[in-house]
Amino acid sequence: MSEQVVLVGLPGAGKSTAGRILADMLGWQFVDFDEVIEAEAQRTVAEIFTALGEKEFRRLEADLTKRLASLNRVVLAPGGGWVTNPELPTLLMQHAAMIWLRVRPETALVRVRASGVSRPLLQVPDALAHIARLLTERAMHYDRADYAIDTDDLTPQQIAESILEWLTRQNRNDSSS
Ligand code: S3P
Repeated sequence: MSEQVVLVGLPGAGKSTAGRILADMLGWQFVDFDEVIEAEAQRTVAEIFTALGEKEFRRLEADLTKRLASLNRVVLAPGGGWVTNPELPTLLMQHAAMIWLRVRPETALVRVRASGVSRPLLQVPDALAHIARLLTERAMHYDRADYAIDTDDLTPQQIAESILEWLTRQNRNDSSS
């Protein structure tokens, strides 16, 4: 059985913060896609969007996914738009667990603003309406997840615990069948 977890959801869903905690709990590696892409490109995601365009950023995401696809014992946190290329989740191991961290657009906006990280997709006049539109457009992709958690009222620690409980239940069911 593969030991690979991928966290999906809108910006501000808690993928990076909860993902890091979860990886620590499991003793697994944690990979934040945006962080790796920035380190490799020597530019921020915002700079990549401005200088090279979103299409090039999505190509970098796809390339990174291929390189990480066979890693075992890893928690993966791709950016919020990663799911929009339906081929990418398919590239991961057959038994990778995909978890959707659900968040209301209002909460996502508060969290993103508090993080201080510049998200190019939110540099628009009505950021809330934009996030709500992203959610509508992406919901069917996020919905491919094996498990979904409403994160609005949860701390990153609680989100990680909730994922861990689910993984433990899954393992128990797998070994008893
Ligand atoms: C994006 C989300 C960002 C980052 C990029 C595009 C998106 O990651 O990958 O700005 O399309 O939703 P986070 O979800 O970690 O903010």
